[in-house]
This record gives sequence, C-alpha cells and structure tokens, in this order.
Amino acid sequence: MDRIRIKGGRPLSGDIAIGGAKNAALPLMAAGLLTEERLELHNVPRLADIDTMAALLAQHGIAVEPDGRVLRLGGAITNTEAPYDIVRKMRASVLVLGPLLARVGEARVSLPGGCAIGTRPVDLHLKGLEQMGAEIRLDAGYIHAAVRGRLRGATIVLPFASVGATENLLMAAALADGQTVLVNAAREPEIGDLVACLVAMGARIAGTGTDRLVIEGVAQLTGARHAILPDRIETGTYACAAAITGGSVRLVGAQMEHLGAVARVLREAGVEIEEQPDALLVRRLNGLHGADAMTEPYPGFPTDMQAQYMALMAVAEGAAMVTETIFENRFMHVPELNRMGARINVHGASAIVRGVPMLSGAPVMATDLRASVSLVLAGLAARGETVVNRVYHLDRGYEAVERKLAACGAEIVREEG
Ligand code: EPZ
Repeated sequence: MDRIRIKGGRPLSGDIAIGGAKNAALPLMAAGLLTEERLELHNVPRLADIDTMAALLAQHGIAVEPDGRVLRLGGAITNTEAPYDIVRKMRASVLVLGPLLARVGEARVSLPGGCAIGTRPVDLHLKGLEQMGAEIRLDAGYIHAAVRGRLRGATIVLPFASVGATENLLMAAALADGQTVLVNAAREPEIGDLVACLVAMGARIAGTGTDRLVIEGVAQLTGARHAILPDRIETGTYACAAAITGGSVRLVGAQMEHLGAVARVLREAGVEIEEQPDALLVRRLNGLHGADAMTEPYPGFPTDMQAQYMALMAVAEGAAMVTETIFENRFMHVPELNRMGARINVHGASAIVRGVPMLSGAPVMATDLRASVSLVLAGLAARGETVVNRVYHLDRGYEAVERKLAACGAEIVREEG
C-alpha cells in the first residue's frame, strides 16, 4: 500500500488547480443510465471513485469512454445488478438504483453496508422509491427492487436532507409518470449541478437550490453535454493547507459562491480569502485563532471539511469547539492528530481543540478520505517527518495531492509499496 512522506514546516506558495467536484461527478455518471443517448461530462476529476463508478456502469452495459477530463457515456442497459464487490468499495454505487428503476423497472443493488464514518443506511432512498410505486425487498444483502410499468410521481417528505436520497429520487422522478415533489430536499451545490444536467437532458425540474424540488416526469431523456462544477471540498482543503503552513496560495478555478460557511469560519480564524477573476487567493498573514464550527447540511459548514478544519485548529491560538452533527463516527482523525501532539478531547458529537504552538511529525494511519487529508495537512505544518499510511483512501477523492502540494513548495513524496 502506498504511503506519503512529508517534511513539514514550509509555507506553501503558488497555484493549485481545483478539479471538478467528485460528489457531483458520481451522481452525474449515474444519470448516464437515464438515456440511451450519449451523455458527455466535462471537467471530470481523475479519481479512484470515478473509475469505480465507470466499472459499475460498464457492468450495466453503459460504455464509459474517458478522454482526459471528458467522459462520454452511452449504451443500452443489459444488466440490472450492482454487485457487492463493487458497491462495497464505494457507497455512491447506490445511486444507480433510482435510474435503473426509472429506465427498466428493476434493479438488484447490493446494500452498501456501513463504512468507517458510520452505518450510513439507505432507508430514505428505499422509502421514497416505494412511495413512487417500487416494490422493494432486502434479501441476502441485496436490495431487490421492481416496479410494474413506470414509477409514479409522489410527494416525498425527507425527514433528513439526505444528499444521496435527494439525488436518487430526483433521477427516478425525472422519468416517472406525473409530478414528484421532494420536500426537505438537500441543497448541496452538487445537487444543483445534477438538476442542471437533467434539465439539459430534457427533464422538467423546478426549485433548484431550494429544499423543495418539483419534478414533472417525462417519457424519455436525451443526451447532453455538461461541465461539472469545481470541487468546493477540494477548495476548502487546500485553503486549510495554505492557512496551516502560513503560506499564500491561489486556488485556480475555485468559486467563492459555494464556499459559504467554510469561508466565513476560516476568515473568523484569521485566514484571508480574496476573490480574483480566475481564482481564490488564500493567505495567512498573522496568527490563527480558535473559531468554533458545527457541521450541518448545506449551506452550513460541510461535514466533509470537519477533519481538515480540526487539523487547522490544532495549531491555532486558543481553543475551538468542533461539532459533528451529520455522521455518528467521524472523529477517527483525532487519535492520529493527538499522536502528532495535538490536544483534542472528544465529548460525544463535539471535540474541544486546544491549539498548540507546533505539531511533531509521526507515522500515522488514515481511516477514511477526509481523515487522510487532515493528516497530510497536519504533516505540512509539523516539525520533522510525517508518514501517512493507507493513502488509497486519499486517492478516492484527491487527484495528485502530493504533486499539487509539491508544486507549491511542500516537501512531500509518495512511496510505492
Ligand atoms: C454524501 O453522502 C457525500 N457523498 C458525502 O461525502 C457527504 O459527507 C454527505 O453527502 C453529507 O454531505 C457523495 O456525495 C458521494 P447523506 P450521502 O445521505 O449521500 C443519514 C466524502 O467524503 N442517512 O446526506 O451518503 C446518514 O447515515 C463523502 O466525499 C440516513 O439515515 O450522505 C448520514 O448520517 C463522505 N438514511 C446522514 O444521513 C438514508 O437513507 C447524511 O447522509 C440516507 C442518509
């Protein structure tokens, strides 16, 4: 398994290109199941999760032709099974469920099972599809779903603004018979991107950006070309890298509009973020100070930025309270950060982070995608050497992380083996 070796203490300086959003690309690829025509996606990041979704779509009969950062998808659905050996690698595989039901009336999708950050059920996806007429039973770890004829539009109230459930139900509703209203829908920008692509494919959807989406089902969808929005979590991650090293980095292609709560909290902590025509300039000129953060559905502070922000607060002056309200077990980076000299105490869903003047490098272990990158951030600021093991977690969501950081002056190398 590859590992990343970092010698900390060098302020970052230079440009980092921000890629297309992983969490938009994955549902957009699943949308390729909704039409036999060609769907062309631009600004696709090169990530392990994208490869996994491509393998899953190929399993269904959808050819995925990569051409740099362009993916061309097309073909007829020849198989409706999403097997365990693919789904267990990536939970977002469950996003093929709604499109398969909408297109061919059946699907057998392995239950994703839990992952490091929580049990992550899909009950909201299933209940919504049942309201649209699907018959669903769970057997031997698989979701067996079928519908006689077409799915029917329904008014679905989500008890929690689940991103994945919103995306699955949105795609199912696009081809359902009649009107679907999704109440308490998630409002993450990646959903707005999916809506924009579906509308380009001929879907009739109103309410984008709000928590109430109204979808008038249509008989079929056409192909389209769609450019994926920049990755706001990659943007926030590299903003933390600039801040934790006391550097100055231009995040090229980043958009302030989707950075919302992240920009507010980082500025409160003493980070300067300046909008430029083609980039966001992120600098830390003076000291960092503790600022509280609580994760919430968009437009709140994103849970996918919690681990990175905690690494930053570990070297801030004063203390910060970081509260995780989305997932039940997303503090696994804490013991590893504490091994590097951080002073973090977890009490239930909250962690008190007492800043220390300097972290010290150490061999550390990653457990999930965002925990991995928080350890890289800590290593960039720590005295001495840090080795982050199991970087396959990183490769799921960050393209060429060591190259992007090395280009800004970080002493960081990937070691095979
Ligand atoms: C998406 O996961 C993202 N993944 C996650 O990013 C992100 O952390 C999450 O949204 C929250 O923003 C992708 O977009 C591929 P949810 P998802 O459904 O859809 C509970 C990353 O690091 N829930 O909004 O699975 C669930 O247990 C990944 O890029 C149910 O109870 O998130 C969790 O506590 C990690 N029942 C909460 O809702 C359901 O049917 C949030 O889940 C669905 C969800």
